[in-house]
Amino acid sequence: MQTAARAMSITATPAVSLDGVGKVFRSADGEKKVHALDGIDLTIAEQEFLCLLGGSGCGKSTLLRMIAGFETPTTGQVAVRGEPVRGPGPDRGVVFQDYGLFPWLTVAENIGFGPRRRGLPGADVDAAVQRFLSLVGLERFATTFPAQLSGGMQQRVAIARVLANDPAVLLMDEPFGALDSLTRETMQHELQQICDELRTTVVFVTHSVEEAVYLADRVVVMGGGPSVGTPGHVELVLPVALEHPRDITSPEFNELKRELLAVIHGTSTAALR
Ligand SMILES: Nc1ncnc2c1ncn2[C@@H]1O[C@H](COP(=O)(O)OP(=O)(O)O)[C@@H](O)[C@H]1O
Ligand SMILES: [Mg+2]
Repeated sequence: MQTAARAMSITATPAVSLDGVGKVFRSADGEKKVHALDGIDLTIAEQEFLCLLGGSGCGKSTLLRMIAGFETPTTGQVAVRGEPVRGPGPDRGVVFQDYGLFPWLTVAENIGFGPRRRGLPGADVDAAVQRFLSLVGLERFATTFPAQLSGGMQQRVAIARVLANDPAVLLMDEPFGALDSLTRETMQHELQQICDELRTTVVFVTHSVEEAVYLADRVVVMGGGPSVGTPGHVELVLPVALEHPRDITSPEFNELKRELLAVIHGTSTAALR
């Protein structure tokens, strides 16, 4: 009974909630204000894969950085599992486009870094390293240094390193943006499988409509941005109910792509219903 009640309260608390979130940056001299985001209300459920999709400058990275705790909202509240975000923390793992690995550590040492820092016993650190090495298919590269790996392999290490901390939320800012298109497709497929297996909650920033439709349970289309004269905001939230792995050539897939593109290019009001 007690366990059931606890399980219910856990599922009832969203992984991430954004409540009236806005962000105004000030220029270095404090004179000019940059209204980056306004009125963002979003609830992200446990185990959900959410994509933030939009063109350059609409505030995707700023939103992700506020969830990560690297930026503070000017208005509103950001909470992770019901706790207000006050700064970065191990409950949120962040993966950027440029991998950010420690070049002086081997692949295994990079992955074991977080668990070791959290004070886990050596045997547990080793077990975590083995588990996540194998999850990203890099068992043979445990003693290799990052510089000797391809971009796709380095990004696999970065993902394994973050997942080894068992974060509540995985935050990814255009993580495959620097990869060639074939590697990128492989990585999208692998990430989807890993998140499915681990049941990880993910917030994934992309400007690729296809990437969003391939990965997301829900796509949040963002628009606006200081360069177009309105603060960044949510234009549309579109659920994607297709089975995984998704067939990017199917009519259903392409219909969703068309709908999102219409919103992004501002050609459809029907899609905004
Ligand atoms: N530290 C900052 N200081 C001033 N303006 C910023 C800062 N960070 C982002 N911005 C501005 O906020 C807007 C949104 O940026 P960003 O979140 O990086 O957009 P996106 O990731 O969607 O391309 C842009 O106009 C950008 O120039
Ligand atoms: Mg960005």
